Amino acid sequence: PGAKPLAGRHVLVTSGPTHEPIDPVRYIANRSSGAQGTALAEALVDLGARVTFVTGPASAPMPKGAHVVPVETAAEMRDAVAAALPADAAIFAAAVADWRVESGSDRKIKKQDGALPELRLAENPDILAGVARMAEGRPRLVVGFAAETHDVTANATAKRARKGCDWIVANDVSPGTGIMGGSENAVTLITATGSEDWPRMGKADVARRLAQRLAEALANEDGT
Ligand code: C5P
Repeated sequence: PGAKPLAGRHVLVTSGPTHEPIDPVRYIANRSSGAQGTALAEALVDLGARVTFVTGPASAPMPKGAHVVPVETAAEMRDAVAAALPADAAIFAAAVADWRVESGSDRKIKKQDGALPELRLAENPDILAGVARMAEGRPRLVVGFAAETHDVTANATAKRARKGCDWIVANDVSPGTGIMGGSENAVTLITATGSEDWPRMGKADVARRLAQRLAEALANEDGT
């Protein structure tokens, strides 16, 4: 029920952690649950959007009404994002691993008395920056997330410039906030014109408010 301001719009959402394999049974991961991404996708669906949801292995439920594309690694996520474009807007809520193991082993690494295996890491592609800087076919609105533990607004403002995206949704994931993996979020929205601190609220409320803002931005001829 209600208005469908995103009817006819395609919105891409990335979500969840990525898993970067070390060998067939081990991987590098992070504590992202995917809860904010799922809430966001559902809020966008509620406003009438067609949503493609590219997700790493998340513990949160999958969003109802979205087209779900499951991936494991950052490289797979990048490829799935490229395949899902074009989109009117793209929101990068995934907690992408910054590094992968340079040459993962196709056999289980064995313990051998006292000798420690050495993992060489390689940098993963920055999926958000890649899309934000597309020369052609860039989504009109590109939104990134920033998980910070201190100087949230300053760091997120710098990140917005560095990545080339339109908005950054920053949150404080310091230990003790209960935000990462929790049901609430306290975000600061950074746009071209400044920053707004939103009160702490449920992740579904953050999602609804963000989806509404996105709908307003897309309704404006000049975007953001
Ligand atoms: O640089 P940092 O990881 O803090 O940036 C976070 C933002 O960038 C998030 O929106 C995240 O989804 C996106 N990102 C990405 N690809 C990466 C790293 C981060 O899309 N390899």
